Amino acid sequence: MSEWFGTLDGLWGEAWSQIGEGVRDAKHPARLVSFSTVSKDQRPQSRTVVLRRTDPEEAVCEVHTDIESTKIAEIEEHPLAALLWWLPHCDLQVRMLAEVSILSGDTVNSEWEKVPVSSRISYGTEPAPGLPIEAALAYTKPAVRERFCVLRCCIEQIDLTYLGQHHRRAEFTRLRDWKGQWLSP
Ligand SMILES: Cc1cc2nc3c(=O)[nH]c(=O)nc-3n(C[C@H](O)[C@H](O)[C@H](O)COP(=O)(O)O)c2cc1C
Repeated sequence: MSEWFGTLDGLWGEAWSQIGEGVRDAKHPARLVSFSTVSKDQRPQSRTVVLRRTDPEEAVCEVHTDIESTKIAEIEEHPLAALLWWLPHCDLQVRMLAEVSILSGDTVNSEWEKVPVSSRISYGTEPAPGLPIEAALAYTKPAVRERFCVLRCCIEQIDLTYLGQHHRRAEFTRLRDWKGQWLSP
């Protein structure tokens, strides 16, 4: 069996390769990831974000957000996130569980420099995202450098499900030095 889904190593490699494509190619299905946190009242909260960086060696993924957004307060209380992708072109679901660090200020200067000027307005909306407003358009979108932050997700667990002809599922954990384990799908 030489197909990528035939071995644990193959599955691992394909998952990281696919999500890496999401960073490089804005049109790739891995570009958008469902990013879930634990809310202040202990409930799950999911939202779509853009995947900005991956590092397979360190098992790290990064996304960018506004430091005033609700998810930041949630992460400050529970520094955990679940990341989810469905990649239909290769029948692969990728689920990751991560510990999240919030990076801001001078630490993220180089990332900020790479944000296209037209996209910088994603960081600085007034009133802050999620606050009530009088009318649908009663907000402004200045670009505010101090509001930009990077969420560095240090992956702890990866669950891969391949839904080709014969379904396969495998789990990889940092605790076991990423040694894979087949699971019943
Ligand atoms: C296609 C798409 C891409 C998005 N990308 C991001 C992103 O990269 N970062 C981000 O903070 N929000 C992004 N959002 C907005 C979030 O889904 C969410 O509405 C916002 O971050 C507020 O979430 P929160 O109140 O849970 O913090 C995106 C939304 C869509 C629909």
